[in-house]
Amino acid sequence: MKFTRMHRVLLIVFCLFGMGVDAQFNSLPYTGSKLIRLNSFNPELSIALESFQVTYLSCRSHANTPELIVQDDALRWLDAHDISYDLLEEDLKQKIDREQIRMKKKRIHREGSAWYNTYRTYEEVQEKLYKIADENALASSVELGLSFENRKITGLKLSTGGIDKPAVFFNGCQHAREWITVMASVYLADHFVEKYQSDVFIQNLLDVVDVYVVPIVNPDGYVYTHTSDRFWRKNRQSNDSSSCVGIDLNRNWDADWNGGESTSSSTCSDVYVGEEAFSARETQIVKNFMETIPNLKGHLDIHSYSALVLGPWGYTNEVTPDHEEIVRLGESMNNALSNTYNYPYFFGTGDADGALYLASGTMPDWSYDSLGAFGFTYELRPQSWEEGGFELPESKIITACEENYKGTLEMVLWAAGDVVGCTDPDAFNYDAMASIDDGSCLTSGSLDSQTIVLPRGWKMISSNIQPLQPSIEKVLAPIQSGLIVAKNGAGAPYLPQYNYNGIGDVVDGQAYHIKLKNSDTLIVKGLKILSENFEMIFNEGWNMMAYLNETPSDVHSVFSSIKDEIIIVKSSEGLVYIPDLNYNALDLLNPGEGYQIKLRSPISYIYEAE
Ligand code: ARG
Ligand code: ZN
Repeated sequence: MKFTRMHRVLLIVFCLFGMGVDAQFNSLPYTGSKLIRLNSFNPELSIALESFQVTYLSCRSHANTPELIVQDDALRWLDAHDISYDLLEEDLKQKIDREQIRMKKKRIHREGSAWYNTYRTYEEVQEKLYKIADENALASSVELGLSFENRKITGLKLSTGGIDKPAVFFNGCQHAREWITVMASVYLADHFVEKYQSDVFIQNLLDVVDVYVVPIVNPDGYVYTHTSDRFWRKNRQSNDSSSCVGIDLNRNWDADWNGGESTSSSTCSDVYVGEEAFSARETQIVKNFMETIPNLKGHLDIHSYSALVLGPWGYTNEVTPDHEEIVRLGESMNNALSNTYNYPYFFGTGDADGALYLASGTMPDWSYDSLGAFGFTYELRPQSWEEGGFELPESKIITACEENYKGTLEMVLWAAGDVVGCTDPDAFNYDAMASIDDGSCLTSGSLDSQTIVLPRGWKMISSNIQPLQPSIEKVLAPIQSGLIVAKNGAGAPYLPQYNYNGIGDVVDGQAYHIKLKNSDTLIVKGLKILSENFEMIFNEGWNMMAYLNETPSDVHSVFSSIKDEIIIVKSSEGLVYIPDLNYNALDLLNPGEGYQIKLRSPISYIYEAE
């Protein structure tokens, strides 16, 4: 059966409703709990499951195959009704206990990157933030206020000073159980600060943009997931006249607050909206702080899991007035995340084409509607429970952090105004529009060069440098006085005396015949051609090819992949290699030389790099 949009909406509503009703039973250590994935789902089933202790872990694209925590009674009921499910975790308690043990073992190592080898507690994160602030002039710690249970909500401000600079605000952990978001937030601050020491580009970028990072906006909930309930989502604020604790912080913001998109007004629900917008202590505090930031351009609220990038709005599928720019930024962040380790993320606004669900009262929508900052949500790795769910394996922490960093970098770049390039007027690639130098400037000192020694008379030459000015007269200008003629593979000549250039620009990977009146030395300046994966397109019959390596190499190794196509390879000096006859007088191919190669058929040849 195909799910229509309406079905999906219904199902998500029921799914979230189901989450809520049973939340009161979940503050237990999961003894006897199992984790299953239903292979089909519908509103009736959702209602039926309400009479059991059930916690839905996510309601996403595969909300029609939800992942949930159950006890044996629910399983017996499912079995009795022939409802198909996969048992993903036989003994959830054991899994959580093991995670605790691993963390204990690993947490003693905390220097450098070892800090990211395991998930860190609230106290460890605080200590780390203060350490970063202490050790780096760029960073200072900021206290936003105290949580419901009186814990500090601490952030870092990365700034080189100045007023009214464009700013971005990053936060993790509105949802307590999303541990990777805490690590990723700390990492991004840590990494920006570290790169600021060594990377000109990051220096220039952070000279014009202020970056705020608050890794744990829900400290009480976070501590609770470490001490009592690994899968707690909300904060830990008590609710009047209810024994159920907690407000879903990401439903408590004043943007379509209590609007009914995956919300609940039941205090026991995991998506409880609170008494009113900002009734949660933590949302109130973070709101107050964000309102003090002048010129806030972007906001990113980091969640897990699903591997998604979400742009505003989240409460409706209507598009914002800034849709085009939001899509551009969203896609660039999504590409950055996806390309870091080739792990596919997906970008969308609204319900992201059904990849997620709409949600009312979320933080990024408030940032957008009330502060005018582009408010985005990331759902970090993994995509599914099988890959770890909220417990992304510790071995993948750094990976996720690095991806996240690349994504945030795109937002910082965007906030800077995107004018990034070479700002040195003396450089060859000076960009008059650029205001932030990205370290790409090419001055004569920073160029690669190749020196080619040339005899009197005819010689076939090539270069592994891509010249900045590629016309053949510019490339050969240093030897022009003795140059009689140059010819390309097709026989077209460049004749300096006649001021005739039939060659035009030199082509990477091609060789040229030249004739000199006297011996000379040619220096080619530019950028080294990356010989790895360099593709050469050869014709059937004769071709002239460049030699791209920096040192000589054996003719067999260079041509092993196309040996069967080769009739003959020939050097300037007439030395030949004939694979069919097993005849080889050529031996080594040398930098600076060109070679003629005769083929049986036209081929694309991927150069065999050194
Ligand atoms: N998964 C998060 C939550 O449930 C983020 C929701 C944001 N939704 C959106 N469509 N932008 O709170
Ligand atoms: Zn979340």
